[in-house]
Order: sequence, then C-alpha cells, then structure tokens
Amino acid sequence: MIFKTNICLAAALSALMLLPTTIHANESGCVTNYDSSKDYFPDKVKSSYASGFDITYTKNAKYIHNTISGETYVLYQCGTPAPSDISPTPADSLQVGNWVKVVTVPGSKIALDSAPASAAIELLGAQSTVAASYKYFAVTSPCMQKQLDGLPRIQQNFGTPSNRRRRSNSSSDSRLVRRVSYDISTLGLQWTFTTYGMNDPLSIAVNPEDANDMLGKAEWIKFIAAFYNKEAEANEIFAGIESRYNALRASSASSSTKKTVGLARYNKVANGTVLGWSIDQVQPWLAQGLADAGLSAYSGDTTSFRSASDFYSAISGWDILIDTSGEPLPHGGATIPMWSNLVSGYGFTSSGGRDYAKSLPAVDNSAIYRSDLISSYKNATDYSEHLQIQADVLLGDFVKIASASSGAKDTKWYRNLPQNVPVDWVSASDCK
Ligand SMILES: *[C@@H]1O[C@H](CO)[C@@H](O)[C@H](O)[C@H]1NC(C)=O
Ligand SMILES: *[C@@H]1O[C@H](CO)[C@@H](O)[C@H](O)[C@H]1NC(C)=O
Ligand SMILES: *[C@@H]1O[C@H](CO)[C@@H](O)[C@H](O)[C@H]1NC(C)=O
Ligand SMILES: *[C@@H]1O[C@H](CO)[C@@H](O)[C@H](O)[C@H]1NC(C)=O
Repeated sequence: MIFKTNICLAAALSALMLLPTTIHANESGCVTNYDSSKDYFPDKVKSSYASGFDITYTKNAKYIHNTISGETYVLYQCGTPAPSDISPTPADSLQVGNWVKVVTVPGSKIALDSAPASAAIELLGAQSTVAASYKYFAVTSPCMQKQLDGLPRIQQNFGTPSNRRRRSNSSSDSRLVRRVSYDISTLGLQWTFTTYGMNDPLSIAVNPEDANDMLGKAEWIKFIAAFYNKEAEANEIFAGIESRYNALRASSASSSTKKTVGLARYNKVANGTVLGWSIDQVQPWLAQGLADAGLSAYSGDTTSFRSASDFYSAISGWDILIDTSGEPLPHGGATIPMWSNLVSGYGFTSSGGRDYAKSLPAVDNSAIYRSDLISSYKNATDYSEHLQIQADVLLGDFVKIASASSGAKDTKWYRNLPQNVPVDWVSASDCK
C-alpha cells in the first residue's frame, strides 16, 4: 500500500518535540500513543442535504462515499492502524470506476486540481497544506494564485498499455481507455483533490457542482474538512451559510412576482459564423436556488435551434436570460463575451439583418447576465470556485436579479451585460 509513512514520521517527530502530551486527532500531525479505546474524531460532520456524498466514522477512521464519482475514500488518523476491513483498489488495477482509496489524515502536503476544493481550503484556513497543483490548473482567488505561482506544477501520467474498459453487460464488448494518474510520488504529496473518478489511488474527486441542491453544494466544505480533521470549523462555517441562506429564502418567499429565467447561448465557431442557438437545461440546484429567490426556471430540456425566429419565440417568455456562450478565438480556446458579442451573437439589433429584440422582455429589461463577474487572466472564473461553496451569497445574487427592474448591477458573481458591468479581472498581485 502507498501510505505516506515518511510524512507521518516527520510530522510525528515535530509534534513530539512540541507537544509531548496526548495529541488530539484534530490537531495537525500524527498520533504517537495509539489507544484503541479512544475516539480520535470527537467532532463529526454529516451531509444532511442532497450533496452527493455521505460519511461515517469509526474511532480512528472515516468512510466517505462520493456518489457522484462512485468512489469510496477511507481516511484514517495518521499514527493509528489502517482499518482491517478494507481492501483498497490496487494502484495497477484495470478496474474502471468505483475505486476504494485509502489515505491518512490530517492533510499536510497535497496537490490541487479542483477549484471548489481550493475555495473550501481557503475558507477552512488550510492553504498552507497546498504544496503543488496540476499543470493546467487555474484559480481566481488572488492569494491562491500567488501561492500556486511559487509551487511545483504536476503532470498527469498516461499509463501504458492502455486499460481495457469492459461495458457492464458484455465482457467481449470493450474499448480502450487510458490509465491516468497524477505524478505526485517524487514530491512526497499525500493526494490530489480533483474533479473526476480516476484510476489513481491518490486522487480525491470533489463534486459540489453536481450536488442536487444549493445547501448540498455548500456541504462539500464538510467533505474537504474531513481530510484535515477540521470538522468543527466546517460545521461552524456551514451553519452560518445555512442560516443566512434560510433567512434570505424566508424574506424572498413572499415575493408575488414570479419572473422566468432561462439559460441560452449562441454557437459561434472560430471563423466568426454563428451556426445556431441553444437553450440549456437548468440543473436541479440552480432551479432550486432560483425558486428560493422567487424566480421560476425554464424547465425544458437542452434544445438547439437553426432558425433565429424559432429561438426567439422559444425565449420570448423569459424575463431574465443567463448567457452561457463562449466567444471562440481564431486559434483555439475561448474568451469571455461582452455585451457587443452578445448583440451580434444573438442578433439583438437590426444591423445584422434581424430585429426580433423588442419582443424579448429580457432584452427590454436589461436582464441578461453571465456568472463570470470575478475572473482571472488565466480564464478561471470564481463561479467554479467560491460560488460552489457559498450558497448563501449566491442566493443573494438571485434575490437581486429577481428584484431589479432594469438589471441588477450590485451582484457578486452575475455580471449584467446590457448595463456593461465590467469583469473584475483578478491576478496574484491583488493578494493583500
Ligand atoms: C480539538 O477538539 C477538541 C474537542 O472537540 C476541542 O476542544 C479542541 O479545541 C480542538 N482543538 C483544535 C486545535 O481544534
Ligand atoms: C447491453 O448494452 C447495450 C449497449 O449499451 C444495450 O443496448 C443493451 O440493452 C444491454 N443489454 C442488457 C441485457 O443490459
Ligand atoms: C465557418 O465555419 C463553418 C463551419 O465550421 C462553415 O460552415 C462556414 O462556411 C465558415 N464560414 C466562412 C466564412 O468561412
Ligand atoms: C484565455 O483567454 C485569453 C484571452 O482572451 C486567450 O488568449 C487564451 O487563449 C485563453 N486560454 C484558454 C486556455 O482558453
């Protein structure tokens, strides 16, 4: 097994020098005098909303099941024995999905490839444990940008030969997949916080964007906290988010106006041609958040349109439009659209030969938004970072969007385009 005994030993030695008495599991470091009768995790978390994970405790171990990645993580206190009832998936396993992964906690030297994990780590005050990040990982938080700038960037290993993935119902029907893992061994890192279930015994998937409700997203701070024995801190932070969320919801529930919101985008290719328009399905957490702000989310499936007039009639009942377009760059990649891009992408004026705009309440009311108000020069947006955890602040944005008569401009994450609210471009130099 691939436990980082060297780290535990180093931490144990330094802990021994500073704190010769019994060490609580919630403090940073390993236990020196293991006592099988002791509960090493007096502070516990549980997920009470549709978060996508559940957690159970024994005296010296935590069992977390991530129902979104399908993985099970067994965390046991450093300096205590590994639970005997578990069989971690071997590092060279060809199994696709449902891995059982084992790590020792608390985390003290980890790699980042997850924006929401970065936000939760900052909220928990565990930044000093971030010791590396994935080569292409970008964050908005100025101080995390600054920290990552001075740290090693890790690669992914693509195993050879490729694994053979078996479809569940036929062993002969297979296709090749590559075995991917983060290259963390030479740096002595404990694990990588990432997004997907992977054939990597030391990667942990963090998935608040797939939680089914708003407070379920915020509960991922508890998930991260379990890796640091910071359950008490997480419970306190979450309780604050929950009570502010519920207070906001209670005050907006009386609103009699039920404006309709939908997600749409234009599909532009690199040569500048708009091939069509799409309406996106609203995810359950977003529909719930909008409803809690007194709004009504468009409830249809994702639909694509070739004809502008068909698209315009489909969105003609929307009071508010949330844009999800990307503005393609000629040589690949995409940049953040501004209002002028939307005007041409959707044909909101007559200059392009179409003029359906006056029949659209979202245009008439200047109620068109994107969730990229806080963005980094490396194209990360805080939407995938702090927004995933701070559901109370997000609901605050929805409430402002719901009550504005000509476009809210004082939102945190949602940028009003017709009113030309500028993007708040953040860089490491903004770290104060
Ligand atoms: C550890 O947990 C105990 C019991 O919950 C608590 O009294 C103590 O303050 C915690 N210590 C730290 C450093 O968080
Ligand atoms: C097996 O998989 C195929 C393709 O995914 C599917 O069409 C078929 O219904 C499956 N059969 C059974 C028995 O599950
Ligand atoms: C732009 O690209 C699209 C498809 O990629 C193509 O159909 C169209 O003809 C191109 N237009 C121009 C002006 O090159
Ligand atoms: C990020 O945005 C810049 C400027 O718009 C662009 O040049 C670059 O290609 C983008 N990067 C990615 C990875 O899309």
